[in-house]
Amino acid sequence: MDVNPRREFLRFLAYSPLIGYFSTGFANALEEELLGTAAEAINVFQFEPVARGKLPKPVHDFIAGGADDEKTMRANREAFDQLQLRVRRLVDVSKVDTSVQLFGVSHETPIILAPVGLQRPMHPEGELASARGAASRKHLMIASTASSYSIGEIAEASGRPVWFQLYPTPDRNATRDLLRQAEAAGCPVVALTVDVPVIANRERAIGYIPALLSSEPDPVGNFRGKTLPSAIADPSLSWDFVAWLKANTRMKVLLKGIVAHEDAKLSVEHGADGLIVSNHGGRQEESNRGTIECLPEVVEAVQGRIPVLIDGGFRRGTDIFKALALGAAAICIGRPYVWGLSAFGQPGVEQVLDLLRAELVRTMQLAGTPSLREIKPEFVRKRGG
Ligand code: FNR
Repeated sequence: MDVNPRREFLRFLAYSPLIGYFSTGFANALEEELLGTAAEAINVFQFEPVARGKLPKPVHDFIAGGADDEKTMRANREAFDQLQLRVRRLVDVSKVDTSVQLFGVSHETPIILAPVGLQRPMHPEGELASARGAASRKHLMIASTASSYSIGEIAEASGRPVWFQLYPTPDRNATRDLLRQAEAAGCPVVALTVDVPVIANRERAIGYIPALLSSEPDPVGNFRGKTLPSAIADPSLSWDFVAWLKANTRMKVLLKGIVAHEDAKLSVEHGADGLIVSNHGGRQEESNRGTIECLPEVVEAVQGRIPVLIDGGFRRGTDIFKALALGAAAICIGRPYVWGLSAFGQPGVEQVLDLLRAELVRTMQLAGTPSLREIKPEFVRKRGG
């Protein structure tokens, strides 16, 4: 095995009490220095500086950016700090079961890859590497309409069913064509993104889409050989579209981006098969509300009739545990796995999933909850509540 003396010295420093005297900036540089391979990572945060170092600036900004002052993006993380775990003792946790049933299918883990578009600029194998990484660890992946590779190519790389995320375009024929491609690829579920009537003000990344698209060798995956739609946002979209979608696909329909109890109720009334509580990772409206703060009202409105999933700021097993306790059936991650992808390709995605899964299992053991069924609301308390 190669020994890098500088890295070994930095590693010695990192594990010594001395590190407490150094600035955060130095600690970050140290992390960057330390992560030579995906396997060395001990938490998902360590992938971010490596990705930043490897990516051209527009691509990094595309991943990192949020809307306006990025308060919502920060709220997604900070809201977890307001929740405490209320754990139990002396429960046999020698065996832990993280499996979950979604639409009649059993999944080994409730951790899902959220749809993230344009992954080839992040790594040459793009979504194919993400799909292989997810499949090798038996995690579900939701592939974006705006993927660099087509849904057919992603499903083939995965070798197991992936879900499809739909951006409705103002052209219903183009939307129908996307649905047919997803069905032909064997997708059992389509997640309709409902939080993009228009693209938000993302100041960090003004102009990133032209820069990204010009870095793509072909037109984006699902539109290869076709006319690119005029937009992936349709400001005219309303609840009628859910009925249209139900009538035009045999896939189960999830609505991604629901944050209010009124809309959760309307979703059930309009026949949605499930919801994803999401604010697009703080990339759309600057609500200043973390998704974990929105979850209880959505769960309450749905009354167990359809599964409620969630994404936004999930970086630790304890974050996942909190969402499961508050009634989420599963959680999705966005940025962490594309940090892993950008840093190391498929092994990076795999290590991100391995770390989060190990953290969830450990949290379940420390909390005295050997299966997801046992993670109930009483395991979480609001600070000061
Ligand atoms: C996204 N997201 C997203 N959502 C979607 O429905 N379709 C898409 O094409 C994309 N593309 C996309 C690109 C990038 C670079 C990011 C970071 C996010 C949103 C994504 O599905 C998810 O909602 C958030 O990423 C979850 O928040 P975290 O985990 O990134 O904090």
